[in-house]
Parts: sequence; structure tokens; C-alpha cells
Amino acid sequence: MVILQSVLAYAFMERHWQTVTRRLSAAVTQDIAALIDVAESYPQDKDYETLSRIASDRLGLDIEMLPPGPLPPPAPKPFFSILDSTLSREIRTQIGRPYWIDTVGRSNIIEVRIQLDKGVLRVLTRRSQAYASNSHIFLMWMLGTSFVLLSIAVIFLRNQIRPILKLAAAAESFGKGRDTDFRPRGAREVRQAGHAFIEMRRRIERAMEQRTAMLNGVSHDLRTILTRFKLSLALMDEDTPELDALKKDVDEMSRMLEAYLSFARGDAGEQSAPTDMGWLLEELKADAERQGHATEVTVSGDPVATVRPDAFKRCIANLVTNAVRHGNRIAITAARDPRWLTITVDDDGPGVPPDHREEVFKPFVRLDEARNVDEGGTGLGLAIARDIARSHGGDVVLGESPMGGLRALVRVPV
Ligand SMILES: Nc1ncnc2c1ncn2[C@@H]1O[C@H](COP(=O)(O)OP(=O)(O)OP(=O)(O)O)[C@@H](O)[C@H]1O
Ligand SMILES: [Mg+2]
Repeated sequence: MVILQSVLAYAFMERHWQTVTRRLSAAVTQDIAALIDVAESYPQDKDYETLSRIASDRLGLDIEMLPPGPLPPPAPKPFFSILDSTLSREIRTQIGRPYWIDTVGRSNIIEVRIQLDKGVLRVLTRRSQAYASNSHIFLMWMLGTSFVLLSIAVIFLRNQIRPILKLAAAAESFGKGRDTDFRPRGAREVRQAGHAFIEMRRRIERAMEQRTAMLNGVSHDLRTILTRFKLSLALMDEDTPELDALKKDVDEMSRMLEAYLSFARGDAGEQSAPTDMGWLLEELKADAERQGHATEVTVSGDPVATVRPDAFKRCIANLVTNAVRHGNRIAITAARDPRWLTITVDDDGPGVPPDHREEVFKPFVRLDEARNVDEGGTGLGLAIARDIARSHGGDVVLGESPMGGLRALVRVPV
């Protein structure tokens, strides 16, 4: 729009305005030149009465012959005036005598004085006679309408962009596991994208629901059988080592089954809520201390963050359980800045060598299989923790702790 306006305005000024002004000025100058010629050729017209009459009746010029004398000093040139420069040029080329003009000021009259042999001819004429004076109104209209059009365009575009921003926000909060109310709005294409997003969200939710339902079924069936096992084992009176081993295996199996299930169930269905990290970490600290581990909790910044409380607690609890299992002293810190909530869990255990730090996140991967078979877990703790952090739009990474062991760092957007 702006380019179009500039081009139009330039072309208009250049072609129309200047040309018309030049023609009008030339016509006025010709009239004046003719009057001068008549005045000099017919000196019998005393006091130029007839000439004045013809000039004012036929040519719209008001003339007067002043006594001979010098022209007034030139008036200051206006900064930008087509009329002044065009008229000056025409008088110079067509009449070629000393002249003085006054086009300045807002009055409708312009004044031209020309030095003749017998006096000074003073001509008063209307400004519009020598100048395309209404042209700026055209420019004003052009600017005004383009301003209106631009405003409409801006309002319209804003209205179109808002639904796209809403869609982006809905997708982002879905990625963080938060439920938001989203209804497609705006242009057809934008609405189409919105519907596609809703459809995709529904499919993902359905897939998760199916997974949960299937697992619940499987677990129910297996649990029934395991319970029957346990019952039969309890009913057997003998106390042989084989039977003890069998009981232990069955216990282990049901524990593993629970672990797999909680992994597969994920955190579906829980709603996000503002959660006080101070409380959550204090509870974990109490658990760890009950197991005889010195634990330190530091919270900095606003302790309240929006997460799914149970899932998030399970995520941190898994990390703390690992620290409890591998270390003696534990330090937990939580820090919140405007964008991220960062929680670190440090211990003074053996740590995880750098080339295994991604490996251990895989389900069922355990490094200490050989170290302590008995109290071993299932190798799902870190996988679950990362799953939960990612479903909040964040992640878990492992590193080296200043306490000598492992540092697990959880970062989720708030
Ligand atoms: N704090 C830690 N210090 C040293 N090694 C660790 C630590 N945390 C985890 N690991 C290593 O990473 C492996 C995987 O941990 P993960 O929590 O996934 O499983 P797990 O603790 O063995 O079992 P689960 O957590 O399911 O009971 C562990 O077997 C262990 O070798
Ligand atoms: Mg673990």
C-alpha cells in the first residue's frame, strides 16, 4: 500500500500537478506579455484605462501602472512551491524583463511587478488562475483512504493471526500434558488446521486409553493367577528351601508386574494443578531419612509450579530412590525461574559413567545387575522419570554431582 501510494503520489506530482501549473502559469504570463505589448504599442491610451478594463473584464487580471522606480527587494523564496518557480521561469523566458513576484502567503491573490520603460506594471491575479491549486485535496483523499484501508488490513490480519496463536498455545499445552479448551476459529484454512489438531489430539488420547485398558486387562488376569500361586504356596506346610525360593520368585514377579504396569499406565488422566515443590520435596526427604540417609532440601524462587502432582512426584521419587539405593548422603534442590522449574537430585554414590548416561534411561536396563542382585529393581525407574518429565514438556538428564556421585537434573517448563 505504502509503495503504491508513493508511486502514485510521485507520478501525480510529476505529471499532473506540475504540467497543469506550468500551463496555467504560461497562460497568465502570455496574457501579461500581451498587455505589455499593447501598452507599449498604443501609448495614446492615457492612464491605461481601456487596457485595465479589458484586462479585468476579459483576462481576470487587475493591472495598474505605477510610477517608474526600483522594484522592491525580492521576497524570500518559499521552501517548496511549484508556483513560484514555474511562474518565475515563464516570466523570464516569455517577457525577459526585470520582475518581482509575490506568491507567498495564504492569500488568494498573487502579485507580479514588471519593470517597463515608462513605469512599473503591477498585476494582481487570483492564485487559482496560475496554479493547479486543488491538487493537494486529491493527495489528501488518497492518503486518507489509504490510511483507512491500512487500518482495516491491520485489524483483519490481527483477527486472522489470533486463532493461529491460539492453536499454537493449545498444541504447546497439550505437549506439556495440560488440557485446554480449544475451539477452531478464523479463516477456513486456519479452522482446518485447528480441526486437524483436535483430531490428532483425540487419536493420541485414544491410543493412550487403549494401551491403559489393555494393560489393565493383562494385569488383572496375571494378578489373579499370581494370587492363586501365593495361596497355594501358603497352604503348603513344608518349609523346604525350594519352596522359599519359589515364594520369593512369586513375590518378585508381582512386584515387577506392578512396576511394569505403572510404567505402561504412565500418567494418563491426571490433571495439572499448581503444586508446592517445597511440600513435595519435604515428603520425599522424610521417606529417604526414614531409610537412614542424610537428606538436604533447598528451594529457591517461587516454589509453586503447575504440574500433574502424582506423576511429578513419582518422577522425583524414582530419582530419590536411586540416590537412596546408591548413595549415603542426598541433596535435593529446586529452583524456579520465569520459564523453567529445575530440580536436581545429588548423591555421593558411585555415579554412572558418562558413556552409560543415556543407556540407563532405556527400560529394563540396569548397570548394577552384578553389584546387588537381591535388592535390584526392574530397571524402569529412570525410564518412567523421563517419560513423565517429557510429558510435561521437559526432560531428565544425568550428570556428575559435586558430591561425587550422580546428579539427576529434571527441567520442566512452568
Ligand atoms: N544414583 C545412582 N547412582 C548410580 N547408579 C545409578 C543411579 N541411578 C541409577 N543408576 C543406574 O541406572 C540404572 C537404571 O536405573 P533405574 O532407576 O532405571 O532402574 P533401577 O533403579 O535399577 O530399578 P527401579 O528404579 O525400576 O527399581 C540402575 O540400575 C543403576 O545402575
Ligand atoms: Mg531406580
